[in-house]
Amino acid sequence: MTDRYAVFGHPVVHSKSPFIHRAFAGQTGQDLDYEAIDPGADGFAEAVRRFFAEGGRGANVTLPFKEEALALADEALPRAREAGAANTLIAREGRLLADNTDGAGLVRDLKLRHGVPLAGAEVLLVGAGGAARGVLGPLLRERPQRLVIANRTPARAEALARAFAPLAASHEVALEARPFDALRPPFTLVINATSASLAGEIPPLPSELFAARPFVYDMMYGASPTPFLREAARHGAKTADGLGMLVEQAAESFFLWRGVRPDAQAVYLRLRAALGG
Ligand code: ATR
Repeated sequence: MTDRYAVFGHPVVHSKSPFIHRAFAGQTGQDLDYEAIDPGADGFAEAVRRFFAEGGRGANVTLPFKEEALALADEALPRAREAGAANTLIAREGRLLADNTDGAGLVRDLKLRHGVPLAGAEVLLVGAGGAARGVLGPLLRERPQRLVIANRTPARAEALARAFAPLAASHEVALEARPFDALRPPFTLVINATSASLAGEIPPLPSELFAARPFVYDMMYGASPTPFLREAARHGAKTADGLGMLVEQAAESFFLWRGVRPDAQAVYLRLRAALGG
């Protein structure tokens, strides 16, 4: 029988996950079906329970349900617990397991697709919301030399730095929070984890940060570069958007469910071509 998978989101019509996972299934000869489910603003828990009661094998979860997904699972893997959110659910022996593959997806995209070294790096993470929290643990485990969190609302960056202080210490990473106007170069990698690009806005970083030519990454993506990436490129920085992260987090989920690693690069290239720009 064909195994059922789905992505839950609200809205979910624009999700690329069905395309990605069907392509992975085709590549690897896995017999599975993958659909997109929008349970409405209030129907997530009930829709997930029904999906798994009817034999669903696994699910992805996107905005705005990632925190709720963690809460309703029977068990959470450490990556999901520390992220405070789950993007992947797995049915295992009648129990629902929560994981989070976002950070692993970012790390793989940076290292493998873009050739950005993380060990010993000096990293600036911009933003302190769910997206930043979701990638912080996997970034720290790569042992950068230092990681600075900067956010429009400084108290949120400070809270995040406090929460991850033990993990940073155990990996010998200097982790700190700083307001935008107290950021000092050099950074070798700047990651935009804010939602500013959605509003066509740019976090107000001091422009001298770009002078040292860091690699600049935006977790958002689109047909044309985000305002943040355009600004970085104007200063001569190398840039990348989050399309690769999207495909890599999906590949991690697929691997968890099926035990087979798909060819993420082939699907990445198809998506990039479809985006145009
Ligand atoms: P997400 O789950 O996408 O991270 P979130 O938890 O609402 O969503 O967090 C959004 C992040 O983008 C926050 O870091 C937010 O900064 P504040 O904590 O100060 O709100 C940041 N953000 C959104 N719009 C921004 C803008 N125009 N300039 C700078 N930061 C912005």
